[in-house]
Amino acid sequence: MPIPPSVYEELHLLPSILSADFSRLGEQIAVVMDAGVSMIHVDVMDGHFVPNITVGPLVVEAVAALVHARGGLISVHLMIEQPEEYLEAFVEAGADAVSVHVEACSHLHHAIQALKALGAGAGVAINPGTDLARIEDILTSVDYVLVMTVNPGFGGQRLIASALANVPRLRRILPAGVAIEVDGGVHEDNIRRVVEAGANWLVAGSAVFGGADPGAEARRLQELIRG
Ligand code: DX5
Ligand code: ZN
Repeated sequence: MPIPPSVYEELHLLPSILSADFSRLGEQIAVVMDAGVSMIHVDVMDGHFVPNITVGPLVVEAVAALVHARGGLISVHLMIEQPEEYLEAFVEAGADAVSVHVEACSHLHHAIQALKALGAGAGVAINPGTDLARIEDILTSVDYVLVMTVNPGFGGQRLIASALANVPRLRRILPAGVAIEVDGGVHEDNIRRVVEAGANWLVAGSAVFGGADPGAEARRLQELIRG
């Protein structure tokens, strides 16, 4: 089922399961969803585009079953080379929205069209060191832009201020109704600043799952998002 257009305009906290305890992933997802979260962020890494290796469609399928059963959505962040080859597998596994990196994608327009044809939300992701001009031409075709505010690959890094500066720049040129997802180094001390910059999907990994009580952290971050 395609994501309702209003979701791209809403404020959401997206806990990234990268920092969750994978031996009790289902329980940790239930805890944050009980705290009011309705979108979960899944980081897919291939050991080539980024040094780290994480999960593939099999884990997305397991997570999607849990999240969908509670009426939630899955946003999959592909940090892999040639993402075009895996779009169908991830959407079939249950991804509701999928982002591909401009730096990893030789046929970006084609990938975005393919995601839409598969019925998924289509996102383009951009690294801190990449010029926004590289995605300008695709902005009228995407459902969301994922702005990396750390270099992709690992959780728990500090937010790069110059990368956050891409958010207001993007807001000025993006069509209405396109979400900006900010990913990396978001925590309680800076999440308001990220919202005020113009982001409306806020990813948080270590800030949610790094503490003893992910439910309490998710609640607190959502309160800060709403202001
Ligand atoms: C990093 C991932 C992020 C990561 C963020 O490459 O894309 O989604 O989980 O983790 P924190 O919130 O700890 O910076
Ligand atoms: Zn991510």
